[in-house]
Amino acid sequence: MTIFARKLAPVAALATAIGLLGWAAAANAQQEVKIGYALAPTSHYGVAAEKWQEVVEAKTDGRYTFRHFPSSGLGGEREVIEGLQLGTVEATIVSSGTLSNFVPETGIFDIPFLFRDLTHARKVLDGEVGQAILAKFGDVGLVALAWGEQGFRHITNNRNAIADPQDVSGLKLRTMENPIHITAFETLGAAPTPMAWPEVISSLQQGTIDGQENPLSVITSAKLSEVQKYLTLSGHVYSPAMLLVSRQLWESMTPEDQQIFKDAAGEAVAAMRAYVDNVETSGVEQLKTEGMEISTLSAEEKAGFQKALAPAYEKYYGQYDKATIDQIIATE
Ligand code: PAF
Repeated sequence: MTIFARKLAPVAALATAIGLLGWAAAANAQQEVKIGYALAPTSHYGVAAEKWQEVVEAKTDGRYTFRHFPSSGLGGEREVIEGLQLGTVEATIVSSGTLSNFVPETGIFDIPFLFRDLTHARKVLDGEVGQAILAKFGDVGLVALAWGEQGFRHITNNRNAIADPQDVSGLKLRTMENPIHITAFETLGAAPTPMAWPEVISSLQQGTIDGQENPLSVITSAKLSEVQKYLTLSGHVYSPAMLLVSRQLWESMTPEDQQIFKDAAGEAVAAMRAYVDNVETSGVEQLKTEGMEISTLSAEEKAGFQKALAPAYEKYYGQYDKATIDQIIATE
């Protein structure tokens, strides 16, 4: 070793030690994960976010902590997703409301009467078609970790009970900002009013809209019985949810921590689905007790709605790959 190299050896060793210390400090540093969602902490979203946090915090020895912003505390779902893209929010659980504005392929799951039941929907979302769509979120600067769910959507309103498409004629019905849903209700002759969720309860109170549509998980947890009289169990469309994190958060993690977040998202989904299973049976009784007038569309009445939706299906088949739609329908 030259004199020069001998002089530099301790400096290099020190630099390596400082580097290792820095890496260890980073590995031990706490990172706060701001998680935003539209509903109360006691809702299916709150339960899922809580489970996600619990598993991540336990498996990372508290290197990651979660700070919750429930009840649209960070704004509507579109704003929160944009926050993820900007890196001002780290995580969210959202409906499919605005997702097709980010990744158009997502809208395929918003087609009315596509899924037979929850088991069918879960099979498709966890399978090839669902997972391929999750992967597409990488193209828009987002990391989609898992599909969650809300249940099947039903119509509530203050005007009348609903049994056939004439009953929704002219009904001022709040929809999500979701082009597939808007087309469906326009085709049925309703007056769909796309609106971000934070404005919905006050608009129902003020009577600027007659009704809205959401699954039992939302109708119960958002206490819609306080502002809506009629509930029609129409089950007109399945309502998926998605667990997303920001690319900034994702890229700052080691592969091990990424795996922990992904596995924990899977556990959060299991908790959310268990909540939905429960509310699908207990929710109707609860809402009856709270004074709602509840009716259920029979198989024939559902067929009547599907028939009236024929022109909308034509549009959907133009927008989405028919083979994929058939693959979804054929999934057992
Ligand atoms: O109707 C919606 O916008 C959504 O279902 C909600 C209530 C925000 C939950 O994601």
